[in-house]
Amino acid sequence: MDCAAQAAELVAPYLDRPALKLLDVGCGGGHFYHCLVRRGLLADYYGLDYSPSLVRLAKAAFKKQGLDPQKIILGDVRDLRDFACDIALVVNTLSFNPDFRAPLDRLSQTGCSVMVIRDNFGAKTLVRYEIDGFLDQGFNHLKGYWNCWSVSEVSNFLSDYSFKVKYFIDRRTQGKVELVVGKPYHWSWLVAERK
Ligand SMILES: C[S@@+](CC[C@H](N)C(=O)[O-])C[C@H]1O[C@@H](n2cnc3c(N)ncnc32)[C@H](O)[C@@H]1O
Repeated sequence: MDCAAQAAELVAPYLDRPALKLLDVGCGGGHFYHCLVRRGLLADYYGLDYSPSLVRLAKAAFKKQGLDPQKIILGDVRDLRDFACDIALVVNTLSFNPDFRAPLDRLSQTGCSVMVIRDNFGAKTLVRYEIDGFLDQGFNHLKGYWNCWSVSEVSNFLSDYSFKVKYFIDRRTQGKVELVVGKPYHWSWLVAERK
């Protein structure tokens, strides 16, 4: 939970009005909403995920708690169109995409003034398309992306969209390498503020 806690701390200064619309990209089960509520942080929360089973879970959890399940959206951030928001959160999600550019381009088109991103950042971009190896029997031939992004490439990309980018060390991993299904991850945070 340290990761969600740090995400909440990083978005908190921008949640200065309750009606601000926050899009949680790669929301999984939508747990970040509850992390905000526990901290007394108010936002007009929307979750987006391209996994139908996770979206089903998140919608069911929202419904059970009397929240609007329509705020959990099934879709790929790369296809996001005609969606406006104030804050975009992209936690542990970009690395599993073929490139960071299309997701960040779509998010910048939402008009958001802030993006908070946790990902596998390093000195150089390294594209890895490999098997997971930890899936259920019969599925381990499936490949996916396990990418590492160059901090300067991502920062330069965002500054072309008029964002000023700040780097933050990851509190949970403290700048140390963490193995994610045996692959090296250097988790860190970027907070991009529209100039
Ligand atoms: C590792 S999980 C992280 C979930 C959550 N953000 C967290 O930190 O606990 C990555 C999530 O991103 C989703 N995802 C990855 N790429 C996506 C994309 N292009 N559009 C929408 N969802 C995506 C996956 O389905 C998955 O639920």
